[in-house]
Amino acid sequence: MRSNQPQTIYLSDYKVPAYLVDHVDLRFELFEHGARVHSILTVRRNPQSDDVGAPLVLDGDRLVLESLALNGTPLDGDQYEDRGDQLVVADVPEQFQLSVVTWIEPQNNTRLEGLYKSSGMFCTQCEAEGFRCITFFPDRPDVMARFRTRIEADRSAYPVLLSNGNDIDRGDLPDGRHFVTWEDPFPKPCYLFALVAGDLVEKRDSFRTRSGRDIDLRMYVEPRNADKCAHALDSLKRAMRWDEEVYGREYDLDIFMIVAVDDFNMGAMENKGLNIFNSSCVLASQDTATDAAYQRIEAIVAHEYFHNWSGNRVTCRDWFQLSLKEGFTVFRDSQFSADMGSATVKRIEDVTLLRTAQFAEDAGPMAHPVRPSSYIEISNFYTLTIYEKGAEVVRMLHNLLGPELFRKGSDLYFERHDGQAVTTDDFVRAMEDASGRDLSQFRLWYEQAGTPVLTVRDEFDADRGVYRLTVEQTLPDTPGQTDKKPHHIPFALGLLDRRGQPLPLRLADDDTEAPTERMLELTERAHTFEFHGLAECPVPSLLRNFSAPVRLNYPWTREQLLFLMSHDPDGFNRWDAGQRLAVDVIQSLVGAPRDTQVEPRLVTAYRHLICDASLDQALVAKMLQLPSEAYLIELADEADVPAIHQARERVLKHLAISLRDELVACYRRNAQDSAYDLSPLAIARRSLRNTALAWLLAINDEEGRALAVRQFRDADNMTDRIGALRALVNSDYEDDRNQALASFYQRYQDDPQVVEQWFSVQAASDRAGQLPQIRALLTHPAFDWKNPNKVRAVVGAFAGQNLAAFHQVDGSGYDFLAEQVCRLDDSNPQIAARLVTPLTRWRKFAPAYRERMRAALERIRDKPSLSRDVYEVVHKSLAG
Ligand code: TRP
Ligand code: ZN
Repeated sequence: MRSNQPQTIYLSDYKVPAYLVDHVDLRFELFEHGARVHSILTVRRNPQSDDVGAPLVLDGDRLVLESLALNGTPLDGDQYEDRGDQLVVADVPEQFQLSVVTWIEPQNNTRLEGLYKSSGMFCTQCEAEGFRCITFFPDRPDVMARFRTRIEADRSAYPVLLSNGNDIDRGDLPDGRHFVTWEDPFPKPCYLFALVAGDLVEKRDSFRTRSGRDIDLRMYVEPRNADKCAHALDSLKRAMRWDEEVYGREYDLDIFMIVAVDDFNMGAMENKGLNIFNSSCVLASQDTATDAAYQRIEAIVAHEYFHNWSGNRVTCRDWFQLSLKEGFTVFRDSQFSADMGSATVKRIEDVTLLRTAQFAEDAGPMAHPVRPSSYIEISNFYTLTIYEKGAEVVRMLHNLLGPELFRKGSDLYFERHDGQAVTTDDFVRAMEDASGRDLSQFRLWYEQAGTPVLTVRDEFDADRGVYRLTVEQTLPDTPGQTDKKPHHIPFALGLLDRRGQPLPLRLADDDTEAPTERMLELTERAHTFEFHGLAECPVPSLLRNFSAPVRLNYPWTREQLLFLMSHDPDGFNRWDAGQRLAVDVIQSLVGAPRDTQVEPRLVTAYRHLICDASLDQALVAKMLQLPSEAYLIELADEADVPAIHQARERVLKHLAISLRDELVACYRRNAQDSAYDLSPLAIARRSLRNTALAWLLAINDEEGRALAVRQFRDADNMTDRIGALRALVNSDYEDDRNQALASFYQRYQDDPQVVEQWFSVQAASDRAGQLPQIRALLTHPAFDWKNPNKVRAVVGAFAGQNLAAFHQVDGSGYDFLAEQVCRLDDSNPQIAARLVTPLTRWRKFAPAYRERMRAALERIRDKPSLSRDVYEVVHKSLAG
């Protein structure tokens, strides 16, 4: 822990490395009381660097240096300086070998960075800067080396020893120990290094590439999880095939390995040839994983696999370029998921996350560009902006160039930069060179933070048959950025006649072959488009498929929204019209008198959705989800959370009471009638029946209660079982709730991933998750402060999803969160910093809440020896 103020790192200070490392020879001696790491670096001066005669500077973090030798000669204490976080050797030749031995204690590593232990196994997490916790090294992604790794450990406790690349040697050692040596032929930055040692079972599969090479696929899990690997391996094969077909990318090594670990700070990690996953993002069985979990696993397995090209073969020059690999890879995995299931539903899910959470980040004190220009702690920059907005920026390139030129651009990017560490600008240049388009203005998307606001106005000139559409863009100020320039925005448009038929978009009178949809391009602060040859005023379908990550304002009437909900040929916009209507209805009830009417046409529209079985059921299942409280808060200026909560509850209950019989019929129509499967239709039907249950229980319907109790008992899959549990937990039937919670725990107590779901169902519920109950969960025997998933399931779900319980006017929810952040700050700063997020939005709330949130932030700020991670988030949140 530090005591003085941490330093800010600036992109403008970037310098090429003074020394390059061509080869790294590692030997790990793993013991229960610690690990000894022997490293031999083959180093040479970087010919690109003008820093002639610079000392060799290696990064290190909490390392005990045991010995140091240059070209085999041990160095004396006056030939080097161990500064704690850096090892400096002043006098080095042009080329040399440096031998370093360090001692580390993985068994005491609770930060889960570097080498640590998780349920008895050794594993690593090196991105972004964890390798420096293992040995002294130039820990930056533009230093790429070939690694050879020998692992030595007790044979019976650690029969499986893994690292990147191919296993080239193995054998026995004295004292019941053994070793395996791995060699990775591809140069890589050290953040992609990985090591695993444990008592794991191996599940094998194989994949034949399109050029006919057979790849060994191996998945390693704890023995109790042996039957939960099939979905991940199937997903992996689908991802490998898809990347060949859609991007022309083939896998390069002979082995591809996946490991599941229980203690992990994030979802998964793309280490070369050895992807490491959070157990909750890779293990699945019908009885333990929900549909959402199955889909998440498929997406994350694909994401990490896709990194082999977008991240590993072509990597980042520095961490300011993080979105180069993350934004592009999220775009790739979302295209993949769209192709595997319902493309419209996938788009709806991505946009929901973006508009709820990324827009909030972009409007808050941690707002930053997709390519930031400074940071204090890089771990804090694995954000929704880098990942999700970064993916939207790549998607806009796809929208502007079209699929063929985009593919030409990605081919050029991979070919031009294979084996290099590059920048987001290199990516855009490849797209530019391949397409011949000028993307200089488009580059602003990487530099300017904040969410653009588009304001659309229209008028119809009936005499001339001309429809005029004006689009204005503004970009709000963000910390450190004002007076921004207009963005280059792809704006997909359609026009509908009064029967819902698509109209040709004629830009001139004689434009006969006009298409019914256009990708307009906005580059100025305001544009006016004219569409000719129209007999009547059309209804516009704006920003189809969410063609750009912007806020869109247009004075829709409720009639227009109802019309678009049922007629827009763009499925995304049909859903969006429904959301906008529901938002409008809920907002009009916030703080309104109790007898204010709920819009009757909303009931009619929902009745139609529930009853018309000819509609796309996957889309209907999404359209029936009311906008979340989090989204309604994001849209508010001074959010009054209890009032928003009440208004939303009122609408939900009004719909449930008005549509009670339809909901029961919907439940019965969608009862499971065939074997469990994961088709989009089957997933939609489970979603529909669980929505029906939740609504019926929200109004204390006795028949709904009986259906829920029976479904809970008889379900043959986790989606239905936890759907029924959630409905009961959120109901007024206290005995049923307690019985269901107890029996669920009884049944699944030995499965950590299910226990995590059990925790979060309670923590996210305004019935079962009030503060005293949350405190009780923290003392439950299955709760573990050292396991990030448990912390997220209780503390994260409470503060992030149970908003009415978290936002207490006495500030008790905020104080609780501050207390947990301080307690975690010493053991796991990355997780502690992420937990602060809900408090960083303090300026968004009504005054009484705002002040108490700020006070909680100040309490965290005043904790002695705050980590760099939490320091950055708290200080930036309080600034200005
Ligand atoms: N690169 C990982 C991904 O695929 C992100 C990641 C995994 C990570 N573990 C981490 C980032 C730990 C920071 C710290 O998205
Ligand atoms: Zn990633």
